[in-house]
Amino acid sequence: MRDTVQAAVEALRAGQLVILPTETVYGLAADAGNPQAVAAIFEAKGRPRFNPLISHVADADAARKLARFDTAANALAAAFWPGPLTLVLPVLDGERVSDLARAGLDSVAIRAPGHPVAREVLRAFGGPVVAPSANRSGRPSPTTYADAVEETGASVAAALDGGPCEVGLESTVVSVLDGDVRLLRPGAVTRAEIEAVVGPVRQDGEGHRSPGRLALHYAPDAPVRIEVTEARSGEILLGFGPGVGDLRWSLSPSGDLREAAANLFRRLREADRERPAGIAVSPIPQQGLGEAINDRLRRAAGFVG
Ligand code: TXA
Ligand code: MG
Repeated sequence: MRDTVQAAVEALRAGQLVILPTETVYGLAADAGNPQAVAAIFEAKGRPRFNPLISHVADADAARKLARFDTAANALAAAFWPGPLTLVLPVLDGERVSDLARAGLDSVAIRAPGHPVAREVLRAFGGPVVAPSANRSGRPSPTTYADAVEETGASVAAALDGGPCEVGLESTVVSVLDGDVRLLRPGAVTRAEIEAVVGPVRQDGEGHRSPGRLALHYAPDAPVRIEVTEARSGEILLGFGPGVGDLRWSLSPSGDLREAAANLFRRLREADRERPAGIAVSPIPQQGLGEAINDRLRRAAGFVG
């Protein structure tokens, strides 16, 4: 099912769900202001209702109608939007982003995605669109049209094909509350890139929590072992760097973190389809995008985060 932008916008207006490509991962989208439509997202994903959703907007001007931006928030939006950064900010207009979408919090998560198809939909729709990753809850995020349709296609009225996601990892989630900037979820924009704009940022903590950071997350069916250099019998090894494992399964044969991020969820899914005894993953350096890759891998392996 490959629909037009116009069909997707009509579906959103009618309170139906849409598969929406973004530069990070595919999203399962609905009108943020329509409580029934938002409820249908939680239902389709099997997502616990305490876990709030990200509102997607066309640009920073649209975001400023929904949330309070201080100096740091403005600087981050100017530096990274449109792009893979989500800001958690004090909510201004609780009508336009329904209570359920915010899980009743007085903050709202917002991002202006960079993908041209997502931008076209958001401009034409004219209001905030909530979109969690289009996987069923707990599973690896979809980074291709086919994977998104396989996960949640049965629940949508329209699905847009935007090609394979360029980034392949979810947005970085940063909260800017009471003048305090914190990193809630490492992601496509690196910690160093954030800190170059707003100075040192602290980890999540009291009052700055991402309710969605469940321990077992992003997990394929096969058990995942991380930071290992050799596969056991029946396991598939996802290598990283030259000379590690079977080239076909490598996250990046040259050891490039950008390439590894783009391949991560796709390789986990492909490996899972072979029904291996397990999936083993080579050590990934903790610098740059490695922080987000290792975060997803630890959760896929079931470690508490
Ligand atoms: O790249 C992405 O961000 C993708 C694409 C589709 O945009 N979306 C995505 O959404 O990853 P989701 O629902 O899978 O993750 C949203 C994260 C969750 O960890 C959630 O708990 C957190 O954002 N979040 C949302 N609203 C929040 C809030 N008000 N305070 C703290 N965390 C919040
Ligand atoms: Mg997700």
